[in-house]
Amino acid sequence: QLQIYLQGMLQGTTPEITTDLARLESQAAGKLTLEAMGYIGPSAGGGSTARANQAAFDRWRLAPRMLRGSTERDLSCTILGTAMPAPVLVAPIGVQTLAHPDGELATARAADTLGLTYTHSTQASHAIEQIEASNKWFQLYYPTDRDVCLSFLQRAKAAGYGVLVVTLDTGTIGWRPADLDRGFLPFLKGEGLANYFSDPVFQSKLAKPIAEDPGAAVMLWAQIFPNVGLSWDDLSFLRDNWDGPIVLKGITAVEDAKLAAEHGVDGIVVSNHGGRQVDGAVASLDALPAIADAVGEQLTVLFDSGVRTGSDAAKALALGAKAVLLGRPLLYGLALAGQAGVEHVLRCFLAELDLTLALSGYANHRELNRDSVVRA
Ligand code: FNR
Repeated sequence: QLQIYLQGMLQGTTPEITTDLARLESQAAGKLTLEAMGYIGPSAGGGSTARANQAAFDRWRLAPRMLRGSTERDLSCTILGTAMPAPVLVAPIGVQTLAHPDGELATARAADTLGLTYTHSTQASHAIEQIEASNKWFQLYYPTDRDVCLSFLQRAKAAGYGVLVVTLDTGTIGWRPADLDRGFLPFLKGEGLANYFSDPVFQSKLAKPIAEDPGAAVMLWAQIFPNVGLSWDDLSFLRDNWDGPIVLKGITAVEDAKLAAEHGVDGIVVSNHGGRQVDGAVASLDALPAIADAVGEQLTVLFDSGVRTGSDAAKALALGAKAVLLGRPLLYGLALAGQAGVEHVLRCFLAELDLTLALSGYANHRELNRDSVVRA
């Protein structure tokens, strides 16, 4: 915060990216192509889940505490064995070259500069091995082909990824009118398939090298990606082949959270994929408190969908999340200024979270609890 004021005083410049994180989307829209913005910004169906995600934050208000005498704050924590300077992670987001040519390389470097954890998507535009970050987690879309699945797990482990995040809410891609109207799906153009195309097992299943017949490679992806038939039993294959914590992403039903605990995973992400999958689904924040009550002692409960500001993060932490994942805001920062843009968004977000705690009388985020918020 002080840095920003000082810069304004000394250089008299307005930052090229707004510090109003809720306004980033409209700023980025001016920079992105209609196709890219159509893929990144909108949500499934009529957008009711995405709107609900944000409206849910407005229904909870912080009740700042006064005269608590705390001058120093410490937001550091360890989540599933990963040390973090603050309870904030970069959400897995595919095909980031849609936002900027540097794609995931820039996002990972930005996270790394701040010591934050970067999560690499299965659908990334850069391969598992290309990511340089000390703290990285790997997000798996569980392919129907177990050989390819195993190869992804082995590559992620060899490349130093610490935690496996298995996304369950995307057995196939949701009904997204903005993309359907344009007939646009980046993967069908071969974008966002770097992990597959660089995979020796995936390659071995093709009659010809990918460069000679990219169409066949895309078709193979289209066969092994949709996996709507997954069931709880399929998790044992991951347990047997991943030596490290496993997190299930996309949980919004209390019953599923309990099943996750019964099946011995280490954590969950309460998430509806930013409203991109089931339109009309429950807002992620509305699902959080009951899930945290049910499994918060047994599982590490993480949260995403609709988090835009540091104040939003404080509310999610008060309602039982151990950390939050940031999605679209980071892509907007990436679109506006590459790695520097992602860093700007992360710095603003962390500064606002820190300031929110300071002005609310908390020395660290663990002090936030249900009494920190009031249902409006
Ligand atoms: C995503 N998300 C996502 N999730 C995942 O597990 N694997 C993926 O490849 C992607 N890809 C992806 C692309 C784009 C363009 C977006 C916007 C989102 C979902 C992401 O991890 C996260 O759940 C949401 O973005 C959180 O919601 P907010 O913060 O965008 O509202």
